[in-house]
Amino acid sequence: MDDLGAAIWPPLPITTARLVLRAPERRDRAAFVELLSSPEVHTYLGGPRSRDELQRELPEVPEQWPGSLVVELDGAMIGHVLLRRATGHRRPAAAGKADLGYLFLPQAWGSGYATEACAAALGWLSDALPGEPVVLTTQSANTASMRLAAKLGFTEVERFEAWGAEQWLGVRRAPVTSA
Ligand SMILES: CC(C)(COP(=O)(O)OP(=O)(O)OC[C@H]1O[C@@H](n2cnc3c(N)ncnc32)[C@H](O)[C@@H]1OP(=O)(O)O)[C@@H](O)C(=O)NCCC(=O)NCCS
Repeated sequence: MDDLGAAIWPPLPITTARLVLRAPERRDRAAFVELLSSPEVHTYLGGPRSRDELQRELPEVPEQWPGSLVVELDGAMIGHVLLRRATGHRRPAAAGKADLGYLFLPQAWGSGYATEACAAALGWLSDALPGEPVVLTTQSANTASMRLAAKLGFTEVERFEAWGAEQWLGVRRAPVTSA
């Protein structure tokens, strides 16, 4: 995976009805440690990282790269939305395309925040890079993620075996705009 390129970064904070999406800052570090060390968050992502290792190794401002968006609710980080370039994706249908990922703290699940944040991030991307399709890979057993992908308008391209599980590859075509 590569980042989206510095030309479109950083974004102005993106606001939704309940949330703010913005580039990571120093004050997000503790929430990143929580997110990346949570076994619940990593059930379908190959397992969490160790909290001690993260405390030692995370940079002062974690995940600072073009396309990395912290999701904030009432001033506190609740999740991370990742828009990257799927360079080297193992499936040809996804290779080189813009790619969406998302991780939210468990206490923020079940309130529609992920849908709201990802829809806003996709809206930002379609303004920044008009016409770009976006791909998404998730384990098909990850039902919350599969529901989210469907709500965001992703449709199935294919399923494939990787990392010891069935993976679902979806695509969201860029909205057609009239001239
Ligand atoms: C995938 C993940 C982001 C989904 O989070 P989520 O909170 O279930 O997703 P949504 O924001 O779409 O919320 C949907 C739920 O909120 C409920 N909800 C409550 N209030 C709502 C509101 N105002 N608007 C919309 N939905 C609302 C919905 O009914 C739905 O509940 P349900 O799951 O019981 O049907 C989360 O499970 C997660 O972070 N998982 C770990 C990381 C991961 O696996 N990522 C995938 C890698 S690609």
